[in-house]
Amino acid sequence: MENIQTLPTADILQNAVTPIVLQGLPLETPTPLPKKINKSIEILMVPKPSVRAEHQKNVGIILDATIILKILSKHYKSVVITEIKALDDLERLVIRNPDLVFSGVKYFEFDGKTLWLNDFLDRFGIRSMASSKQALDREANKSRAKDIVQKAGIATAHYFTTCPGEHPTEASLPIDFPLFVKPVTGGDSRGVDANSVVNDFAGFVAKVAEIQNTQRSRCLVETYLSGREYSVGVFEDALTGALTAMPIEIIVTENRNGNRILDFDIKKNDSETVVAVTDSAVHQKLCDLAKVAFKALSGKSFGRIDVMMNGAQLPHFVEANLMPGLRKGYFYRACSFNLNMSYEQMILKIADNGLSYR
Ligand SMILES: Nc1ncnc2c1ncn2[C@@H]1O[C@H](COP(=O)(O)OP(=O)(O)O)[C@@H](O)[C@H]1O
Ligand SMILES: [Mg+2]
Repeated sequence: MENIQTLPTADILQNAVTPIVLQGLPLETPTPLPKKINKSIEILMVPKPSVRAEHQKNVGIILDATIILKILSKHYKSVVITEIKALDDLERLVIRNPDLVFSGVKYFEFDGKTLWLNDFLDRFGIRSMASSKQALDREANKSRAKDIVQKAGIATAHYFTTCPGEHPTEASLPIDFPLFVKPVTGGDSRGVDANSVVNDFAGFVAKVAEIQNTQRSRCLVETYLSGREYSVGVFEDALTGALTAMPIEIIVTENRNGNRILDFDIKKNDSETVVAVTDSAVHQKLCDLAKVAFKALSGKSFGRIDVMMNGAQLPHFVEANLMPGLRKGYFYRACSFNLNMSYEQMILKIADNGLSYR
């Protein structure tokens, strides 16, 4: 009694209600739902290819739009899926002016003109979630990407590019066997198989011809790297620019020639094993390399840097992927093994970070 008399009115009231609060809210009061963030997000898709397995060159990230919609709708007020079939659709999106466009599309071809999505949105002050044309260009041409990261002080296998007839004799090859032959652009290990490792001139000529015939591409010929293979997921903090690197190791069984190559069939059948990098010295080296490479290539928001060890266990940059897949592949596993993140947390982090760019 004495205590209550000495308390100001507000405190008395607070004291009086405290026990009720502790026992939980009265039944008739509905439990408040977590407040949704007042932002609008459009998940931008393009029509699926007519042939199901066909490769869409202009799509960098294959998304499962309904899963992304479900995740984002729980946290953001307005989330919709938009299919872009023509320039009009894109112009209407600009008028709606969403806070973020969540998309894995790199570019569109409208009336024979190429329109790069992220750069286009940028012109209207609409945020997108991944890298610009400039960075995607740098990444897509592997020899250019290698030059850029090498200038930034990173090791990458010696290389030259070629096409049938350009290096007509063994003496004209600028680097020694064993070599690794792959298309200079591309992905998903298209054109890469056991014959990519070449030990003699006949093997070199045959693989270069095959890549020309099947992939219609020039070749990147590199010193063969015989060590382990890694991929390093990278997040860039939109506000501070700080990078977080998340390495994983990708393990492939030996092929008929005793080489471990992440080739087209292995990727297609998901027969590789992905494990955490537990050696702390290796983990650190991979993180350092990936951060420098991501910066040198002007990556934005998130990406993956692929690395292989040479015979002396020195990490070498192989390629960058500034629009990494966002299903349950390498990028997700990099997040999960290193940051203990769930799939939902990963998608939310990407959206939240995308919304934070100025
Ligand atoms: N210089 C190399 N030495 C040994 N193996 C290589 C070399 N370059 C690539 N590979 C192997 O070939 C795979 C595909 O090459 P990569 O350049 O990553 O092409 P993609 O863009 O198709 O993924 C790599 O994951 C790796 O297993
Ligand atoms: Mg690769």
